[in-house]
Order: sequence, then C-alpha cells, then structure tokens
Amino acid sequence: MENVKENQETIIASGYGFSPVFDDVYFQPCDPVAESRYVFMNHNFLPQRLRVTPTFTIGELGFGSGLNAIITLDLWLRVAPAGSTLRYCAVEQYPLSLAQLRVIGEPWQALFPMAHSLLLSHHYQDACSQAITIPLQDNKTFILQIFVQDAAQALTHWPATVDAWFLDGFAPAKNPTMWHPSVLSGVGQNTFWGGTFATFTAASDVRRGLQAAGFHVFRTKGYGQKRHLCWGYRFSNPGKF
Ligand SMILES: C[S@@+](CC[C@H](N)C(=O)[O-])C[C@H]1O[C@@H](n2cnc3c(N)ncnc32)[C@H](O)[C@@H]1O
Repeated sequence: MENVKENQETIIASGYGFSPVFDDVYFQPCDPVAESRYVFMNHNFLPQRLRVTPTFTIGELGFGSGLNAIITLDLWLRVAPAGSTLRYCAVEQYPLSLAQLRVIGEPWQALFPMAHSLLLSHHYQDACSQAITIPLQDNKTFILQIFVQDAAQALTHWPATVDAWFLDGFAPAKNPTMWHPSVLSGVGQNTFWGGTFATFTAASDVRRGLQAAGFHVFRTKGYGQKRHLCWGYRFSNPGKF
C-alpha cells in the first residue's frame, strides 16, 4: 500500500485518539506510555525475555497509533543482545495515515527518538503492504509487517509463530468481532508453546475464549480506571486440554 489514506473517522490530537465508530479511545489519555508498559510489556515479561531471546516475534491485534510498537522497539533496542532479530507483525483494519500517526505520536518523539523515527518514517507505509526488514547497528534486525485487513482474516495467513501477543482491539462490548472465539482460536494456533498474551480487558467471554484457544489465563490488577486485565501463556492445542 503506497499511501495509507487519511482515516477520517478517528479523532486525533497530540497523544490522543478516539474512534466514534467504536466509541472508544486508543489508549487511556492520562499516561499511555505507562499503560502500555504495565499492560503489554510487563505482562508479557518483555523486559526479561527480550534480553535472552535472540529471535523474538510479537503479534498485535490493533496496531492503531503504533504506540505499543514504538515502546517495544525502544525496549528491544536497549536490552536485546547484538545480533538479535525482532519481528513485529500487526493487523489493523482502519489504519491511520502517516500524517495522523505523526500528530498522535508527537509526545513520544522526544521519549523514544530512534524507535519513533524508525516506525514513523516511510517504513510504516511500506510495512502496510509487505514485510520490511530493517538492518540496525550491532547487527540487529527489525522486521515490521502490518496487515491492513480484518483480524480474523489476517490470522488465517499469519506469517510467523508468535512469542508474545498484544490483544488491543477496543473494549469487547464495543467491538465484539475482534474478540470472537474464532479470532482467539487463531491467536492460539499462531503461538509457540509457552508463548504469552496480554490484554487490557478481563471480560469473562474473552477469558473463556482464550482458555478454549489453549491458554492458561490469569486475571490481575488493571491499569488506571480498569479494575482488571488478563494475561496468560499457551499450554495446549486450541480446544484440547
Ligand atoms: C485500542 S486501538 C489500538 C491501539 C494501539 N495498539 C496503539 O498502540 O495505539 C484498537 C485498534 O484496533 C483496530 N481494529 C478494530 N477492529 C478491528 C478488526 N476487526 N481487525 C483489525 N483491526 C481492528 C482499530 O482500528 C484500532 O486501531
């Protein structure tokens, strides 16, 4: 996709995104960086795992503003050993344009200069049509691919088995399609044994769907106004216990 077109539905400002279609925010506006670190990095144990796993694959349902990707890339750049490869595969049905990403991501430029510029350069648009391989210093390699389609569809041809998932597709009550049991089963099928997921929601249907998808699921304290989140690891074939 040469040019990702303006997503006219989404309301954006510096550090803020809201979808009137789904009636939900992209992230909690008070401290999105702390929220992403708490929910997605820490509950996938990325600060520890990225230090010791030379080839690591992240899967994300809902690329949105790219904030989770920027924070992951920044972490990996700082802690992963020389020679490591990070593969980041995401799906996004309603992509923001590059110009919109630059507006929404403006506060993160100073915090994560290298990750911000790598993602919000031409790599974003290129990665929306094919996997982009970016060689970096210390013989590290970053591979980025964003499927511009519905999550259920993308999961039928997911390109790599995933070590850690970010399930970030708006609240289940507002966007049930993203959390349909068939989507969660697709997540399970594309996960290594012992691979993990983290999500901001702990809705009971989501937990049940993830259990049916072969994950051991834990509910714990959520971020900010969210009482609970859930995380887990894959321990069986989807549907088999
Ligand atoms: C909460 S936002 C994601 C925030 C994002 N992870 C970030 O770091 O900014 C949810 C995203 O899921 C996308 N989405 C909603 N339904 C989808 C679907 N069925 N398939 C793919 N993407 C979907 C929305 O367009 C939106 O960008």
